[in-house]
Amino acid sequence: MGNESVPHNVADEKEQYVHAMFARIARRYDLLNRVLSFRQDVRWRKMAVEMANVEPGDAVLDVATGTGDLAFELSRQVDSSGTVIGVDFVDEMLQIARAKAARRKTLGQCEFRYGNALQLPFDDNMFQAATIGFALRNVSDVTQCLREMTRVVRPGGRVVCLELSKPVWPVFRHIYRLYFHRIVPLIGRALQGVDGPYRYLPESVDRFPDQERLAQMMREIGLQDVMYRNLIGGIAAIHVGTVR
Ligand SMILES: C[S@@+](CC[C@H](N)C(=O)[O-])C[C@H]1O[C@@H](n2cnc3c(N)ncnc32)[C@H](O)[C@@H]1O
Repeated sequence: MGNESVPHNVADEKEQYVHAMFARIARRYDLLNRVLSFRQDVRWRKMAVEMANVEPGDAVLDVATGTGDLAFELSRQVDSSGTVIGVDFVDEMLQIARAKAARRKTLGQCEFRYGNALQLPFDDNMFQAATIGFALRNVSDVTQCLREMTRVVRPGGRVVCLELSKPVWPVFRHIYRLYFHRIVPLIGRALQGVDGPYRYLPESVDRFPDQERLAQMMREIGLQDVMYRNLIGGIAAIHVGTVR
């Protein structure tokens, strides 16, 4: 896959692959999300925002914001007196987020900036909460990303991760696996016209830490009161930790 447009600070092979992939699929990303999740992604983002526990007036960061859907959901919560900053390292995704923001003038302030999740361009303790949706799986160093999110959140604020995860219901797990590994790549190819990304998707979930392991990783970097909520039997999960 060509990587001519990869910025200089996109370091390793996984980052380059992920960067090139999202640059390529940006235009149809939202459509694929809705179709493949049967619109559940919309409901899950709302739940993640509830678990971020933010209020009108708060400043919140959405890491790897993509086309901005989680940031927009946060902006409803913080209202016009608050601020949401979304960062991502793929300009094509940010352009779509900015275009959507321009059409949603009634919501709170949403600003979209270039930034790498592994080296967030913010000072310590700047935000009341930091969220990441469907993206922790894509970064090349999960612990470093969680550390960065923790660093920029004030003591008492929350770090929230919404991510595809490992189904826990026994029979359902097998049916879902069939859907995810066999059907999703086919739908992905039909709607995107390319093969790779929607094969990468199930493989990346397989490689990602399960619910318990991710909770443990959050505790290990010092987050407190770490808990998670399984969504539809663990197809996805929301993890939350509080900054000391
Ligand atoms: C599956 S999309 C999720 C977008 C959005 N958060 C959502 O809820 O739909 C993953 C996003 O993570 C971004 N991403 C992956 N690795 C990143 C990194 N190291 N720094 C910044 N953004 C990254 C990609 O560019 C992509 O926009």
